[in-house]
Amino acid sequence: MATDALMGEQVPVRIAPSILSADFASLGDEVRAMEHAGADWIHLDVMDGHFVPNMTFGPPVIESIRKVTDLYFDAHLMIAPVDPYLETFAAAGCDGITIHAEAGAHLDRSLQRIRDLGKRAGVSLNPATPPEAVKWVLDRVDLILVMSVNPGFGGQTFIPSTLEKIHRLAQMIEDRPIDIEVDGGVNSENSPALVAAGATVLVAGSAAFQNGPAAYRSNVTALRSVD
Ligand code: DX5
Ligand code: ZN
Repeated sequence: MATDALMGEQVPVRIAPSILSADFASLGDEVRAMEHAGADWIHLDVMDGHFVPNMTFGPPVIESIRKVTDLYFDAHLMIAPVDPYLETFAAAGCDGITIHAEAGAHLDRSLQRIRDLGKRAGVSLNPATPPEAVKWVLDRVDLILVMSVNPGFGGQTFIPSTLEKIHRLAQMIEDRPIDIEVDGGVNSENSPALVAAGATVLVAGSAAFQNGPAAYRSNVTALRSVD
């Protein structure tokens, strides 16, 4: 779909605010506010200080905010090893569990495990990881998360080569029902090009949570708009 064809329209893309940019002192209220603002999913960035150089939160926090919303919980696990923790994240209330292709030796097995737990299976690709890394697991995944920054921190600058990677992934997956999600430096300036390239889910931390709760609705609407 060309960008021009989308001008001025609200495109059918899902917006997944990352609570990494929320006020952690009021996390339940922040999630509720995002739901009321029209967010489609809640993106949960789990970091271990080993796979990525930062630490965030784990299953107890997810379990706690699970009580305040029915929105889809989109867990992005930046942890290695990941296999020993899949069951715990599933039990905490995640709807989709995304693991990094670079995080373990047996991607195919890990993806099968996520589906066996009754969750949508996702695989994430770091900026330097080629799209071909998912070629032989395409029938095992429900979502491919394309990192448009190096994982670990919010507020980084979008890496332009991501667009070409999304385009190639869109060609590779053909008509399979696989979401292409983009994460890192996404804002209302680059979102039209991302959607035109084939993205179906946009993660946004800074751009979604900027200027506080009163601005959340306009932030989410701006990310969804293509004008
Ligand atoms: C980075 C995380 C992202 C990040 C996005 O490791 O996976 O989800 O929070 O934040 P922004 O939108 O601020 O780049
Ligand atoms: Zn993320």
